[in-house]
Amino acid sequence: MAELLNIELDGRPVVSDTISEPEIPVVRGQKVYIETYGCQMNVSDTELMMGILKRAGYQSSSRPEDADVVLLNTCAIREHAEERVVGRLNQLSYLKVKKPHLVMGVSGCMAKHLADEFMHRVPSVDLVLGPDSYRRLPDLIAEASREPALDVRLDRDEDYLGLDPLRKNGTHAWITIMRGCDKFCTFCIVPYVRGRERSVSAPEIVRQAEVAASEGFQEVTLLGQTVNSYRHGDCDFADLLQMVAGVDGIRRIRFTSPHPSDFTDKLIDTMAGEEKICRFVHLPVQSGSDSVLGAMKRNYTVSEYLNLVDRLRSTMQGLCLSTDVIAGFSGETEADFEATLDLMRQVRYDSAFMFKYSPREGTVAHREIADTVSEVEKGRRLEAVIALQNQISEEINRTYVGKKLDILVQGDAKKGKGLAVGKSDGFKTVVFPRSGIKDNTFVQVEIQKTTLKTLTGHPVLSQVASC
Ligand code: 5AD
Ligand code: SF4
Repeated sequence: MAELLNIELDGRPVVSDTISEPEIPVVRGQKVYIETYGCQMNVSDTELMMGILKRAGYQSSSRPEDADVVLLNTCAIREHAEERVVGRLNQLSYLKVKKPHLVMGVSGCMAKHLADEFMHRVPSVDLVLGPDSYRRLPDLIAEASREPALDVRLDRDEDYLGLDPLRKNGTHAWITIMRGCDKFCTFCIVPYVRGRERSVSAPEIVRQAEVAASEGFQEVTLLGQTVNSYRHGDCDFADLLQMVAGVDGIRRIRFTSPHPSDFTDKLIDTMAGEEKICRFVHLPVQSGSDSVLGAMKRNYTVSEYLNLVDRLRSTMQGLCLSTDVIAGFSGETEADFEATLDLMRQVRYDSAFMFKYSPREGTVAHREIADTVSEVEKGRRLEAVIALQNQISEEINRTYVGKKLDILVQGDAKKGKGLAVGKSDGFKTVVFPRSGIKDNTFVQVEIQKTTLKTLTGHPVLSQVASC
């Protein structure tokens, strides 16, 4: 899940000038470099910051060496992420020696979590801004060029209205539909760093989907910490999906991440009835033991979760599933851990993000539940979870040999000259000979061989199946 990327301005128009905004300092020609860590929410926030900065006159830079402003957009979910960001800041600090006016900043969840540490212990940092301060970014950069600037307030009134992102990815648009989280799973830092749950209004989301479609995007992913808890006025997540499906030009809709306890029958029926909604659900389970789920405060039992999986699969044929699993949560016994492996064998996920439990300061688990599982044991359990999932993913992928899948072409494959890569409706990564096929078009590919992560095939002309 962890990604590192930078977003470049590529000359695509930003269609947002109709919204009136508070006055922002306009800068001409200064260059910004942003590095993004963490989940898709952060990728989407980076695009938002780039949109705001472009409107303030900034240009993008693909190299920190050429930039006047360097920002690391961070994630605080697991501990090792912090070491990585502090290491990267120290590594980049030489730039300030060469270019004293350079503003170096940290944004996102980790900025909120560790504001003081960044401000006082990492001398190269001039700017720390939390996830609700993006609108003030140009002001804050101006302030930081004179003296260190800090804004990590969580603002319940920040509605993100009219803040259009600047998208780099040419085939896939992310739209953040809700922010924050009210679930307070005991292991998770997100509610503390992203604040309370807030949903964006449905007309604003539809407007953003229309903008994305007008820019040529055919696939959108609706993002939220618990995306299916979405509610704005009378509009719930199922209603919203239906509205986005009504946008001309959008052919595929994805969403991430739903919480199992908010998956209503209405939502399942809406998904089943709307073919633009992809046959793929990321359904974080975390553990296969009721006592661990209780200690995590996940609000569902194993049997409720399995029942949901049955309802989803029986309503949508060929549905692909992924999940998140935490190995070695505080108090997890060998029997609890075996129960997680059993659940994975039973559900047979297409893929999974698997983590070692990492206690986060400020969370209930860190405060109140003894971290009983040793690091070595956590590592062993994580390895076992990964080995099992790899075996299952490989077995499932093998069943695709001979099938024909509709693929949205995303770009050149990383490995292999002349090969293109794209995604199936079920979120399988599919590689095939480019043969003149353009990015951002749909092509049908017949699968010939498979590995754990990739299906490989050749393009065909006739339409047969889709997943
Ligand atoms: N330790 C390990 N994994 C965590 N996650 C969230 N907090 C922690 C933590 N403290 C994982 C969960 C969540 C995913 C985004 O990150 O599995 O679903
Ligand atoms: Fe964290 Fe739980 Fe909220 Fe997901 S639902 S963001 S794991 S608190």
